[in-house]
Amino acid sequence: MMRRVLDRLGGLAFGGDYNPEQWPREVWEQDVALMRQARVNLVTLGVFSWALLEPEEGSYEFGWFDEVLDLLHAAGIAVDLATATASPPPWFTHRHPSARLVDADGVVRQHGARQAFCPSSPDYRVAAARLARTLADRYGAHPAVVMWHVNNEYGCHNWQCFCQTSAIAFRLWLERRYGTLEKLNAAWGTAFWSQHYSAWDHIVPPGAVSYNSFANPTSQLDWSRFCSDELLECFRAEAQELRSRTRQPVTTNFMSFFKPVDYFSWAPDMDIISNDDYLITDNENPAQLTAMSADLMRALSPDGQWLLMEHSTSAVNWQQRNPAKAPGQMRRNSLQHIARGSAGAMYFQWRAARAGAEKFHSAMLPHAGVDTARWREVAALGADVAKLGVLARSTPPAARVAILFDWNSWWAAELDSHPSADFSVFGQVQRWHRELWSRNVGVNFVHPNGDLAGYSVVLLPALYLMDDDAAACVAEFVASGGTLLAGYFSGIVDENEHIRLGGYPGAIKDVLGITVEEFDPLPAGVRIRLSRFGSGTIWSETAVAGLADVLAEYSDGNARGSVAVSHHRFGTGHALYLGTELEDAGLSEVFDEVLRFGAVDVDPAYTGVDIVQRFGPAHQYSFVINHSGEAVTVPIPGKDLLTGTTWPDSTLVPAGEVVVLEAQRTN
Ligand code: GAL
Repeated sequence: MMRRVLDRLGGLAFGGDYNPEQWPREVWEQDVALMRQARVNLVTLGVFSWALLEPEEGSYEFGWFDEVLDLLHAAGIAVDLATATASPPPWFTHRHPSARLVDADGVVRQHGARQAFCPSSPDYRVAAARLARTLADRYGAHPAVVMWHVNNEYGCHNWQCFCQTSAIAFRLWLERRYGTLEKLNAAWGTAFWSQHYSAWDHIVPPGAVSYNSFANPTSQLDWSRFCSDELLECFRAEAQELRSRTRQPVTTNFMSFFKPVDYFSWAPDMDIISNDDYLITDNENPAQLTAMSADLMRALSPDGQWLLMEHSTSAVNWQQRNPAKAPGQMRRNSLQHIARGSAGAMYFQWRAARAGAEKFHSAMLPHAGVDTARWREVAALGADVAKLGVLARSTPPAARVAILFDWNSWWAAELDSHPSADFSVFGQVQRWHRELWSRNVGVNFVHPNGDLAGYSVVLLPALYLMDDDAAACVAEFVASGGTLLAGYFSGIVDENEHIRLGGYPGAIKDVLGITVEEFDPLPAGVRIRLSRFGSGTIWSETAVAGLADVLAEYSDGNARGSVAVSHHRFGTGHALYLGTELEDAGLSEVFDEVLRFGAVDVDPAYTGVDIVQRFGPAHQYSFVINHSGEAVTVPIPGKDLLTGTTWPDSTLVPAGEVVVLEAQRTN
């Protein structure tokens, strides 16, 4: 469906959120003229316009919106039309107080910010669906509207609610999942701590429980599943109105690795996968996180195409310190996303706000106006993106390495009352992804029940929860010649968060050829030495190698002599295990081994340089994004689509620069 939008745009998308209601009428014309100057061809309109579109329940003011849409259309700018339901107006809360959010301690959250609604509130769903329907009827045939943007970043501020309505909805959700109380009791393990349920009505959401205690873990896991599903029902209520009345594709913007929402379960409901990705500036490697977020989006889209709906031209306003982007950094970030499958680059937002909580957030058009470095960079990038129109017909990068990732496992792995609070799923995924990113080895995220055909290497960083199908799939992958690397605390529990008995990690023990007898997490900051690969932190274990070869054992601590890193020949494949959190150099050595076993070619590494390929019918397009402070020469020939320069053998990429080399396809 993205293709359809791109055909309308005549190339890749470039633009951002447009909030004209924050400005007087005369600014709109200036906006549109400047948008044209910057080659903006798509804007997201109306995300926070509910209060001005429907100033009172059931009474609408569309005149100003009509005008904006017509102005944009006259300028050839297409619209991703929001259903405006992300922030219900004050009248809504006033009239429907039961739709307010209630937190785990029973405190009611008031309106005055945004997204102040309970996802299970029938009043909210009815009001949102009515607005979506009204907009669909009014604008479904407007020539500017090329896609629908339902709500905004579901769950960003309201991923859970502990009100009575939510409690009832939770019980109904559980009844649908389990059918009988007997099954629920079994799944939740309620024989423990006298938690056996004899009536559905006795079940309450796992909010604040008795002091210093822990709510039933499976109830917590089901609560996460329920909360994600309830938000999805909100999306569905609106999407259904749009789809029954209009023909444009429907999306809602995801938020990369956003823990509360299981995007794998949402993706089939989307016509277009779209994503918001913001640079986390206090991370030691923000450019890698950008790549990782983009890599995740491909996993959610059937054809690997998706759209970067929001990122920032420079600073945001919501981190502890909000530095500006360095010259060239915005361009590199945007092109990193396009290289990895995005159908364009969109920003929050078009014009920097004067008032409100986001007035210090950067925009395409800064407070200081057009005579600024930022504006010049934005306009230059618009021209660059226009030169990449040919990519609209290309396929996103392919990969031979897969990281298995699952929100259910993430939720379960980080429940309370576990061996170590230092264990972080995202942290481990990020470190493992970095090993591939820094070697320019392409990687896809895959759901554990997904298809592993075509991959040479499969990685299980912190995949704590695995159902039987996932376990069988991984075993089959290795048996038939694949290479696996499993990290500690993977394959430990089933889908109910029950331990797989007989030695850890029960789901993949035979494949790995080892048995872990006891976990022995390390005190904060303590390192444990290994016979090879340096030292580890966070975790150690008492483990015995059965059929596996020991690559390294612990040299000190309680686990001294136990297997820390192992290799097992299983079927015709290789299964490696890593039982601790190795420091960087050791982790890198393990990855060298894994990639060697998997026969994945590693290009000579260019530190801080991203090299990614997309493929068209006859051409290949190599993005070389130089994040480093040094010029690099890469052995890739082609014509740089951005400058028009042809590089016959190899290409010089100056520090901080990007080239997109077009060449005849070689495969
Ligand atoms: C997103 C949101 C935008 C804006 C932006 C600021 O979370 O969708 O509306 O708030 O962040 O970075």
